[in-house]
Amino acid sequence: MTDLNWIDLFRIVHPVFVVAFVFPLIGIVSAMAWQTRQRRLQTQGEGAKSRIPAVVGSEHVKYGKWLAGGVVGGSLLGLLHPSLKYMARNELFTKEPLQAYLVLAFFVVTAVSLGLLYLSREAPWTYIFGGLTAVGIVVLGFQDALFGRAPLFDATKYGAIFRRDFDWMVSHFYFGILATLLMVLSLATITDIYRDRSHTWRRLHGAMNAFALGVFLMQGFTGARDLLEIPLSWQEPAVYSCNFDRSSPLYKQCPPFENQP
Ligand code: HEM
Ligand code: HEM
Repeated sequence: MTDLNWIDLFRIVHPVFVVAFVFPLIGIVSAMAWQTRQRRLQTQGEGAKSRIPAVVGSEHVKYGKWLAGGVVGGSLLGLLHPSLKYMARNELFTKEPLQAYLVLAFFVVTAVSLGLLYLSREAPWTYIFGGLTAVGIVVLGFQDALFGRAPLFDATKYGAIFRRDFDWMVSHFYFGILATLLMVLSLATITDIYRDRSHTWRRLHGAMNAFALGVFLMQGFTGARDLLEIPLSWQEPAVYSCNFDRSSPLYKQCPPFENQP
C-alpha cells in the first residue's frame, strides 16, 4: 500500500495534525480577533453601539486557547519524531541513557508545564509555567548542542533537529519556535490584556499575533518543502551520498548507482 516504513509514517503525524486542526483554528481565531477589535473601536464613544455581538471577545479567547495548545502540542510532535530517530540512529538508549531519558523527560515536563499554564490565572504562575513551557521547547530544539554532540548554530542533516542554521531565514525550526513562543506568551498574558485599562497589552498582543499570522503562513511553505526534501528512512543512504555542498562544482550531483537491477 505504501513504501513508507513506520518511522516515516510517524513523520506525517505532525503535518496532518497541523493542517487538519491548527490551520482551521487560525482562520477562526483571526476572524474573531478582527471582530473583537472592530467592536471595541465601534463602542468607544458615549452610547455608541455595534452590530457585532459582545461575546466575540470571549469566543476569540476560547478558540485562541485551543489554537495555542494546538501550536505548542504540534511543535512537540514535530520535535518528537526527529528526536526519536536521532536516539535510535546513535543508539543513545544503550550508549548515553542519561541523555536519552533526560530528553524524554523534557518532553513530559514541557507538556505538563503547558497543562499547568492552562490552569493558572494569575501572575507569577502564568509567567512561571509559560516560561517553563518556552524553555522546554527551546531545550528540545537544541538538545544535541546542549549535550555537546553538535555545534550550537551549525546544524547538519545528521543532528537531532535539522535547524537549517545556514538558511535560518527560511528555517521551519526557528520560525516554528517563534510562533510557539508567541502562542505561549498570548496564553500567559490573558489576564494582563483584560486588566490593562490603557490597552497597551491589547495593542501589543494584536500586533505580535498579526506577525504570527505571517509566520504561520511561512510554516505552511517551509513545512511542505521539508516534506519534499527529507528522504524516507530507507532512501537516506542513497540521498545523503549526494553532494549538498553549495560551493562545490559537484553540487546536487549523486554518485551513479551500481548493481542496479
Ligand atoms: C492568530 C492568532 C491571534 C491573533 C491574530 C489575535 C489578535 C487579537 C486582536 C486583533 C485582538 C483585539 C485587540 C483590540 O481590541 O485592539 C485580540 C484580543 C484578545 N486576544 Fe488575541 N489574537 C490571537 C490569538 C490569541 C490567543 C492564542 C490568545 C490566548 C489564548 C488570545 C487572547 C486574547 C485576549 C484575552 C484578547 C482580549 C479579548 C477581549 O477584549 O475580550 N489571542 N487578539
Ligand atoms: C503552525 C504551523 C507549524 C508549526 C508551528 C510547526 C512547527 C514545527 C517544529 C517546531 C518542528 C520541529 C523542527 C524541525 O524539524 O524543523 C517541525 C517539524 C516538521 N514540520 Fe512543522 N510546523 C508547522 C506546520 C507544518 C506544516 C503545514 C507542514 C507540512 C505540510 C509541516 C511539516 C513538518 C515536517 C516535515 C517536519 C520535520 C519532521 C521530522 O523531521 O520528522 N509543518 N514543525
